[in-house]
Amino acid sequence: MTPRKIIIDTDPGQDDAVAILLALASPDEIEVLGITAVAGNVPLPLTQKNARIVCELAGRPDIKVFAGCDAPLSHPLVTAEHVHGKTGLDGPPMTDPTMPLQDQNGVDFIVETLRAEVSGTVTLCPLGPLTNIATALQRAPDIAERVQEIILMGGAYFEVGNITPTAEFNIYVDPEAADIVMKSGIKITFLPLDVTHKALTTQPRVDAFRALGNTVGEMVAAWTGFFERFDKEKYGSAGAPLHDPCVIAYLMWPEIFQGRHINVEIALSDPLTLGMTVADWWRVTDRPANATFIRDMDDEAFYTRLTDRLARF
Ligand code: BDR
Ligand code: CA
Repeated sequence: MTPRKIIIDTDPGQDDAVAILLALASPDEIEVLGITAVAGNVPLPLTQKNARIVCELAGRPDIKVFAGCDAPLSHPLVTAEHVHGKTGLDGPPMTDPTMPLQDQNGVDFIVETLRAEVSGTVTLCPLGPLTNIATALQRAPDIAERVQEIILMGGAYFEVGNITPTAEFNIYVDPEAADIVMKSGIKITFLPLDVTHKALTTQPRVDAFRALGNTVGEMVAAWTGFFERFDKEKYGSAGAPLHDPCVIAYLMWPEIFQGRHINVEIALSDPLTLGMTVADWWRVTDRPANATFIRDMDDEAFYTRLTDRLARF
């Protein structure tokens, strides 16, 4: 099997970090062409640095990491230190990375890569606000037809909001960007809160990371330990959802996920619903289907496979 070429667009974030590790642990299935950082969970200087910390942890200082947009298209940046801590990767002690940040801007890298690679062979995996992807589409509309597909973490329908009562964080931070992506005509799959809230880091699962006996296992256990306290308090759940790794897992193992191909629109005009993903799950409108919206997963299979992959480090 030829590995799928992907660009990871991300705002690390402990769960973003695990997603990057899962991708880098899976070279038979995935070739990471580059990682583009965006402002989201924490500001851009931290997300680009965190992406490099994760690559070094994976023993992959050769991965190209780029800084993209430092603010949403038309709103002030909203961040999530209340979930991820001041650094975005709070939990275990960490040292600054030594691998370089690429000089090229992340948006330019996305455009250039899509133009250079064979059309239809590059998948975009956004794990944060969609600012970089939308900016690339605005700057170079020709790339839309060259993208194989977009598989993103974002949105919610049954679980509604985690940053406002109606909106999920990644979409809420840059709803205009999300709308541009939705209107691009690119094949899109959402991994919304409806499914990621099923990927919970229970104590036995965290123990299994730690029992791997490698540095990655220790770090992932410590990161998820930190990240958990927020969701446990907020939802009274057994652990925290590993949102972003669901994107990489879906890319490799779509058979453990279920969803529907439906119409999804981004709410833009009303402050109460700004950034809501209005998903026509019950197909009550005649609006055309424009996205696959995932709702269910086999979470046991997800954690078993994720842990096996992290054992490779
Ligand atoms: C999303 O928001 C961020 O806090 C996480 O990294 C994830 O991408 C979940 O709403
Ligand atoms: Ca994220």
